[in-house]
Amino acid sequence: MNVEDRPIGFFDSGVGGLSVLKEAVRLLPGENFIYFGDSKNAPYGIKDINEVKALTFNAVDFLIEKNVKALVVACNTATSAAIIDLREKYSRIMPIIGIEPALKPAVEYKRKGKIIIMATPMTLSESKFSNLMNNYKSEAQIEPLPCPGLVELIETGVIEGDQLDKYLREKMNPFLDEGIAAVVLGCTHYPFIRKALSQVLTEKVPIIDGSRGTVKQLKRQLNEYNIINKKIKGGSIEINNSLNSDEIIKLSYKLLNLEE
Ligand code: DGL
Repeated sequence: MNVEDRPIGFFDSGVGGLSVLKEAVRLLPGENFIYFGDSKNAPYGIKDINEVKALTFNAVDFLIEKNVKALVVACNTATSAAIIDLREKYSRIMPIIGIEPALKPAVEYKRKGKIIIMATPMTLSESKFSNLMNNYKSEAQIEPLPCPGLVELIETGVIEGDQLDKYLREKMNPFLDEGIAAVVLGCTHYPFIRKALSQVLTEKVPIIDGSRGTVKQLKRQLNEYNIINKKIKGGSIEINNSLNSDEIIKLSYKLLNLEE
């Protein structure tokens, strides 16, 4: 098989990375994709960093067995825990693309108020995030907002309704009066609750996720390594999950096809 026809591997702790895959299918419709969600071990964001590294390497091994030509770590938490080690081991054989909270576009809006970064506790406590925050802290008021429990809701298919509304109101209430410049979705699960979140925010606040930037970076890397698929449509998508259940696969396709 030509290297261009080999699939691109996507990985996340669960169904979240499908929000990035969706963007990739939009931008690179001729490519073949293989997704692996580790829902059996989700959430990663409250685990020990070494455990997340080990789980990430297992998932990547699975994708390498599937003959992927490039790897997208479509998980902010796994990126902050393991991207350096992954690149050290694999970047000679294929491009490795990670994701981080999209703080830059949020700052560029130049709106008054705080920029709230919703993410998992691990993403916000790792040095990758403090370095990112240091780059912008003189230009903007940045408020990291850990959201433990939110990944678990989305993993069970809760993307609307009272339970989610209550969770989001409790998180956002302290900031509603002081004005919010933007909300950054620093976890790939969160784009699936964008609609519910916008209903909680009283004014029209930009809600930003990093999937477009990540997929553009993927495209650049495919070109650089000279492995981009020349086809302009008709690519395939295969979804795998560590949970041996039809439900999670059904939920995955539902999320992938959800119109935002
Ligand atoms: N989608 C993952 C992220 O972007 C969620 C991590 C988790 O399982 O806690 O961080």
